Amino acid sequence: MTTTTPDVSPTAAGAGANASDAARASAVRHGQAVASAERLSTVARAMLDAVHGVIRDHRLTYPEFQAAKRWIMAVGESGEWPLFLDVFVEHVVEQVAADSQQGTVGSIEGPYYLPAQRRFPSVATLPMRDDEPGDPLVFSGQVRDLTGTPVPHAELDIWHNAADGFYSGFAPHLPDGLFRGTITTDEQGRFEITTIKPAPYQLPMDGPTGHFVEAAGWHLWRPAHLHLMVRADGHRRITTQLYFDGGDYIDDDVARAVKDELVLAPEPGPDGRLRVEYDFVLEGG
Ligand code: DHB
Ligand code: FE
Repeated sequence: MTTTTPDVSPTAAGAGANASDAARASAVRHGQAVASAERLSTVARAMLDAVHGVIRDHRLTYPEFQAAKRWIMAVGESGEWPLFLDVFVEHVVEQVAADSQQGTVGSIEGPYYLPAQRRFPSVATLPMRDDEPGDPLVFSGQVRDLTGTPVPHAELDIWHNAADGFYSGFAPHLPDGLFRGTITTDEQGRFEITTIKPAPYQLPMDGPTGHFVEAAGWHLWRPAHLHLMVRADGHRRITTQLYFDGGDYIDDDVARAVKDELVLAPEPGPDGRLRVEYDFVLEGG
């Protein structure tokens, strides 16, 4: 059998296993939640009650229960839990966190953040190959605090997919570090990043998550997006995403993570490249 994507295995071997490693690192970064017995009991009880309610309401049968068990085991064995949880659950955790956050609104982190990437000054071109496919994009802006004061030397982690939809570090055919970097803002909190416009993203279809979504007749697409993490001493770190007006799946994100405030509308500049500005506002400081 011939295939158009010979060495690309973005599921268990590529995305799944690597996403599990990245998820362990991310859990460490976010700190240990020290749950009291009371908190654990309350939350666990509520979750089990919710599951029992679904079983009663939908008259779940033994064969369905056994199929669900097998599928849950398969998701674990393939390392797809980080993908599944980030795409179907994280957006609600983010909404709850957003209730106590001012400044730029957040969005989900997703499974593909990698720390310790190449560092750049305030004007930067992200790592890419010669003749990289995709529409060039110049993304610039300023980091300020809630009073409007610029935040100099803020750090901006950016990561996004290549024009073929895959993320470096999670797809064997892409060079490490592609479209990833940490930019430090200048004295006025400004930055200018040259990259390409990312592409819509489809979760791997050939693993248990893909099989389930296909069987249910759903789709697994996210609209094109830039991932960003912005931090500065004395300020609360934000994790967010920026989307593109009018793009595919912008109104039908499988991860339900699009917010109106985060949608960009780039326009071609005098040199023909797409340009867009976006300013970040950090709490604290
Ligand atoms: C997933 C992938 C993403 O690129 C993203 O931004 C969010 C979630 C996922 O595979 O779960
Ligand atoms: Fe993403």
